[in-house]
Amino acid sequence: MTDKYYVTTPIYYVNGAPHIGHAYTSIAADVVARWKRLEGRDVFFLTGTDEHGQKVEKAAQDAGLDPQSFTDGVAGQFRAMGEALGISNDDFIRTTEPRHKAACTALWTRLVEAGEIYLGAYEGWYAIRDEAFYGEDELITNAHGVLIAPTGAPVEWVREPSYFFRLSAWQDRLLAHYEANADFIGPGARRNEVISFVRGGLTDLSVSRTSFRWGVEVPNDPEHVMYVWLDALTNYLTATGYPDADAPRAGFWPANLHMVGKDIIRFHAVYWPAFLMAAGLPVPRRICANGWWTVEGEKMSKSVGNVIEPSALIEEFGRDAVRFFLLREMPFGNDGDYSRRALISRLNVELANDLGNLAQRSLSMIARNCEGRLPPLPSPLTDADAALLAQAAALPRLLAAAIDIQAFHTALEEAWRVIRAANGYIDHQAPWALKKTDAVRMGSVLRVLAEVIRAVATVLQPFMPDSMARMLDQLAVPADARGLAALDHPLVEGSVLPAPQGIFPRFVEEVA
Ligand code: MSP
Repeated sequence: MTDKYYVTTPIYYVNGAPHIGHAYTSIAADVVARWKRLEGRDVFFLTGTDEHGQKVEKAAQDAGLDPQSFTDGVAGQFRAMGEALGISNDDFIRTTEPRHKAACTALWTRLVEAGEIYLGAYEGWYAIRDEAFYGEDELITNAHGVLIAPTGAPVEWVREPSYFFRLSAWQDRLLAHYEANADFIGPGARRNEVISFVRGGLTDLSVSRTSFRWGVEVPNDPEHVMYVWLDALTNYLTATGYPDADAPRAGFWPANLHMVGKDIIRFHAVYWPAFLMAAGLPVPRRICANGWWTVEGEKMSKSVGNVIEPSALIEEFGRDAVRFFLLREMPFGNDGDYSRRALISRLNVELANDLGNLAQRSLSMIARNCEGRLPPLPSPLTDADAALLAQAAALPRLLAAAIDIQAFHTALEEAWRVIRAANGYIDHQAPWALKKTDAVRMGSVLRVLAEVIRAVATVLQPFMPDSMARMLDQLAVPADARGLAALDHPLVEGSVLPAPQGIFPRFVEEVA
């Protein structure tokens, strides 16, 4: 198996400012990227912005700006969101960059040469908000008797010359691919949804537009710009240097994982593999769809005025708490609800009480009673020592399995099972009492705890990079011994630990 691992976020439309829905997909992909690096894989992690199409063109007009200056501004906000959240992407792609236009042109040309694209005329419904074409049978009538898309987006009748991609010809080959690759789409409910959509029959897809200009020009027919989804999906190839087979990152294709939201699964799991197969290129290994966030029980929207901006949350609670909350609260794949109360409760119970106190209690006892030096491991281990150490040693395996199916909440539950067991152990062993009766055993208990905290902090680095780095600093773990493989070796007996400092303060809500 190659040690290369390529993971992507969706590229974000630059028609509005980032919110926690965007932050969530980026954090989830970031955890995967960081986890794979801990495993020692050669990771390429891509994020970026989707800057063409009618929706963005319209947003620019509304803002009174030309599309390029408008997208420059909003793309900057998405870049800043990533930095504020600690997203460890290796590249940030913008679809208005020359390298991307070159990749789109190359892919288009290849599809034309393969006979997969032909010129025709499109007549039908289009929803700008979704940048999607809909069949008449998919539309619904709203309370005012107006036809709308199944997503609720307004639709308009479009009639214009258009190039088509022979999607209908790919139905059987797509179904065969889903059949042969059970992990291609996750979670299972989304897989079933995609399979039944494809079984229902595919029609050829309109892949160019002539009624507006803000897009990548079709080669040899500049009246047309490419359909924004063909343009957008190609970003994943662009970043590997496509079409240059000798580009430094060419070896990262096919991607291991496209992390996407449930609303865009069809584009990724149907259109994208069909484009790639038609162009004779390998398809990604897996596409995993997350659910949607509501806010205090309501759909998040500008008109309701309940949009949660990641920057405001980070400022108030800190980036690691926000990352932890979003991944812990929402079982990946399901929808989840953001509420301030739930966030504060998880912060105080799981971070401050469970994990923060465990580290603070153990490390401050080592500082006070062992001259700040790491005591020796017990020899022999008691049953309680062995059981707790074994639980901690199983963490890398358990988290790897959960992260490979993007079950981030399960990964965190596994870590918390060990944290709670360690809290039970410390209460039961009562090292503060041993101090007077059996100082050697007290040292042993504290050392076992130090090993467990180190294992927990190591596996939690991808979730909470800053605070777990501080926790490992407090255990004097060298920077080059923070990968999963380092857990095979115990900490160094006698090492001098820096003075412990609380990592997760309790959050006290100010009463007005
Ligand atoms: N530009 C396309 C993606 C192209 S990928 C080749 C797009 N952009 S988007 O900005 O509208 O959405 C980006 C991601 O944010 C999607 O995965 C979408 O599901 C996610 N979310 C947007 N709102 C969300 C919530 N309220 N909750 C969770 N995720 C949400 O689609």
